[in-house]
Amino acid sequence: MTRIAVLGSTNMDLVAYVKTAPRRGETVTGHDFRTIPGGKGANQAVAAARAGADVALIGAVGTDEFGVRLRAALDGSGVDTDLVRTTEGPSGTAHIVVDADGGNAIVVIPGANASVTHLGPGDEALIAGAESLLLQLELPMDTVVEGAKAARRHGVRTVLTPSPVQPLPPELLAATDLLVANEHEAAALTGIDDPKAASRALLELVPEVVVTLGARGSLYAARGQDPVAVPAPEVTAVDTTGAGDTFVGALAVALGEGRAMPQALAWASDAAALSVQRPGAVAAMPYRKEIDAAAAEGTAR
Ligand code: RIB
Repeated sequence: MTRIAVLGSTNMDLVAYVKTAPRRGETVTGHDFRTIPGGKGANQAVAAARAGADVALIGAVGTDEFGVRLRAALDGSGVDTDLVRTTEGPSGTAHIVVDADGGNAIVVIPGANASVTHLGPGDEALIAGAESLLLQLELPMDTVVEGAKAARRHGVRTVLTPSPVQPLPPELLAATDLLVANEHEAAALTGIDDPKAASRALLELVPEVVVTLGARGSLYAARGQDPVAVPAPEVTAVDTTGAGDTFVGALAVALGEGRAMPQALAWASDAAALSVQRPGAVAAMPYRKEIDAAAAEGTAR
């Protein structure tokens, strides 16, 4: 079993389902509300665990009821939470509006995630024992950099999701092996709207880049070769929250098991396609059996 460490956030997602997301100054009536465990770190950890890896999360939950539910959700999916601290105060929350096409807009309040200001005892040893370390940007940047550097010291592959998008410090880029950005993040980081051109520009910063394009699949770029397009299955999305995290978790598993990048991307796309057909982040993530079945039968494609 491939071992994956995740250094990242946990949030309780407070999700309002609406027909059309409100514009500034507008009030709309929705038709459903759910509280669903999420957070980019927790999502990637659960996605990788369900896809078949041995996964541990480094992060924090608060002392509120959400913290109890978040830890239980992680434990319930087989994620090792020994290094998830419980910090006095509220857990992270994400305030999400999902529209009729499954698209979303998210505001994150960091809560306990902000307390992870450095690696703690045992964190580096855990990272050292992993095949890859998954990082996103919902923990303090200094901690993300510290984690990436620790991984680099031990020859552990680092996979960075630059979300919420923000300027990336050179020392983080220097310790990143694979950057997985969606097209908006790729454009924000490079100032280039065309995903192919943006992926090429990102290659000047890190050795390998994946730009995810939602229903249009993904683009893989590596130094010295032309970007490769990998299509996504055609499905009807009800909620795309966490789809990118599902993709990254499954991709890390496939790479850890030795699949070549295009095959790993296709398998990760199958996983993400399954997740968008169900509501929620963690709640929607597929298990290994489902991904393999969808990949074999082409049911998700
Ligand atoms: O990537 C989706 C996640 O972003 C949600 O689960 C929410 O918690 C925010 O972190």
